[in-house]
Amino acid sequence: MLLRQFRVGPYQNFTYIVADRDGGEGVIIDPSFGIEPVLRELDALSLSIHYVLNTHSHPDHVAGNREVKERTGAKVGAYKTAPLELDRKLSDGDAITVGGIPTTVVHTPGHTPDSVLYLFEGHVATGDTLFVGECGRTDLPGGSSEALYDSLFGKVLRLDDATVVLPGHDYGPTPTSTIGRERSESYVLRPRTKEEFVRFMRS
Ligand SMILES: [Fe+2]
Repeated sequence: MLLRQFRVGPYQNFTYIVADRDGGEGVIIDPSFGIEPVLRELDALSLSIHYVLNTHSHPDHVAGNREVKERTGAKVGAYKTAPLELDRKLSDGDAITVGGIPTTVVHTPGHTPDSVLYLFEGHVATGDTLFVGECGRTDLPGGSSEALYDSLFGKVLRLDDATVVLPGHDYGPTPTSTIGRERSESYVLRPRTKEEFVRFMRS
């Protein structure tokens, strides 16, 4: 598998290219502001991009959708309720296979109602649900600490410890992590009841 991480734009966003190989087929996850370096890499690797996949609908995760779509002919996919121009409306458990790499959609509301994880080949793109050492905020419109608790403790932490975490922003000490490391080191993932977590998110 070919995986590239780009730190782009003014908010330390991460955009990802995932493909099978040089000259192969792939997807772009969360094209953000300042998409030019990503487009140059697509050309350099001669990749055919079939999908743009958004982890959620916030502007800094979708800003490059139109440009990537125009340049590559990719279809745009995101969770079905995302207020975006979508070619493919995704649901929890859907699978998208590009270049022989199956990607599974896991609905993880909390940061936004339309947040999802993309799970592929031992990696998980977490968007703003989970950062390295941190989680996404829940005080923006549509955010819910109760829902984020269920997503983090009921879905994210059910993933295998070896799964590589690909966050939506470069907010941590390292650009990527693993579920096992976050489980043991992240202060947001310490064992808490839902009530304790909601209080913690308010503090
Ligand atoms: Fe966000």
